[in-house]
Amino acid sequence: MARSENPFRPGFNSPPPAFVGRERLLGAVREALAVAALDGRTPRPIVITGTRGVGKTVALGEAAALAATEHAWPTVHVEVRPGRDLTPLLTERIVAAGHLLEHTTADDRRHPVITGGKIGASALGVGGEVEVHLERPGSGAADPLEAALRATMHTAMEEGAGLVVTLDEVQYAQRAELAGFTAVLQERMGDNWPLVVLVAGLPSIREPRRTVTYLERGEWHELGLLTRDEAEQALREPAADAGRPMDADAARELAAASGGYPYAVQLYGHHAWRASSGSDHIALEHALAARTAARRELEEGLYVARWNDASEREREYLTAAARLIVRRGEATGGAVAAELGKAATEVSYLRDRLLKKGTLYSEGARLVFITPGMAEWVAGL
Ligand SMILES: Nc1ncnc2c1ncn2[C@@H]1O[C@H](COP(=O)(O)OP(=O)(O)OP(=O)(O)O)[C@@H](O)[C@H]1O
Ligand SMILES: [Mg+2]
Repeated sequence: MARSENPFRPGFNSPPPAFVGRERLLGAVREALAVAALDGRTPRPIVITGTRGVGKTVALGEAAALAATEHAWPTVHVEVRPGRDLTPLLTERIVAAGHLLEHTTADDRRHPVITGGKIGASALGVGGEVEVHLERPGSGAADPLEAALRATMHTAMEEGAGLVVTLDEVQYAQRAELAGFTAVLQERMGDNWPLVVLVAGLPSIREPRRTVTYLERGEWHELGLLTRDEAEQALREPAADAGRPMDADAARELAAASGGYPYAVQLYGHHAWRASSGSDHIALEHALAARTAARRELEEGLYVARWNDASEREREYLTAAARLIVRRGEATGGAVAAELGKAATEVSYLRDRLLKKGTLYSEGARLVFITPGMAEWVAGL
């Protein structure tokens, strides 16, 4: 039997073989592109939040792909990193996008990857960590970012095209830089630029202290876990497409084990594919074998990383929450405080910090570990 490649992508920033669920978000992206391209108005920015591993980065990539295939628009992508200035990178890439728009035809830009020495649309997009070094725009201009944006949007409109800007990990952005960028957007609203801005970050960006008004008025999308059906689809579709279909009971087993956490869905799929090597389908026995291997990998990777990232006090909090979840099936902030023998107000800052870090998330009053199986792991320490 021909050996076919494992279709699953258990890695951060790795586009999944089947991007499932998220219809509301994709609909909003399509709508924003249409407003900018057809109605000649600048749509509100789209803000994507969610804990680690739910698919924010790949969602930005899907938006870039839609812009390329449906409108032949390039995307400027910047991942904010702690301690690195956002503005120079953003400026540089916006200038590069202007060059791209000037020197390529719409047909060139519709292809996700352009080879043969030209700059590809993907070079500016998600996944293309290609650094573009160009001279800074108009040295006399008061604000290089504004000048770059103005020049590039001018070119875009002349070419009958537009631009998408995606900013990832905005929780790391310095507020002043974010405010600087959005101030330009705000001021230029009346110019009706064909410009679609998407930003993504951890849920903490929603806090009034952390965000800027322009984004507050954007369209917010909180990404959560996939439903059971969606998780099954994310497992079965790629397997079938790659020539090794997955049995319904195997998919059910893996979807349940993953808890609908997108990263875990890919990880379980990946291990099931490996366990079924040599077989022409993925059966329940392969799924069961995969469960053990995948869980071990989750433990070694995500659980340990989050645990190491927690302070002594935060670990006490996590341990109390985990024990409650294992013992009673759920933990609330109040119950965790009681378990620790403290008043809720005394430990609520720990809860807030762990929510902000994305170790826990809240479902109404209930506190849930974002990584499936982590409660059991912590309780067993
Ligand atoms: N809708 C989806 N369907 C199937 N798999 C998905 C989906 N969304 C994300 N994934 C998978 O989940 C994993 C995490 O995705 P991604 O890196 O985009 O998460 P993230 O939210 O950006 O995480 P982080 O906050 O750590 O950057 C990847 O393996 C990706 O392929
Ligand atoms: Mg990401």
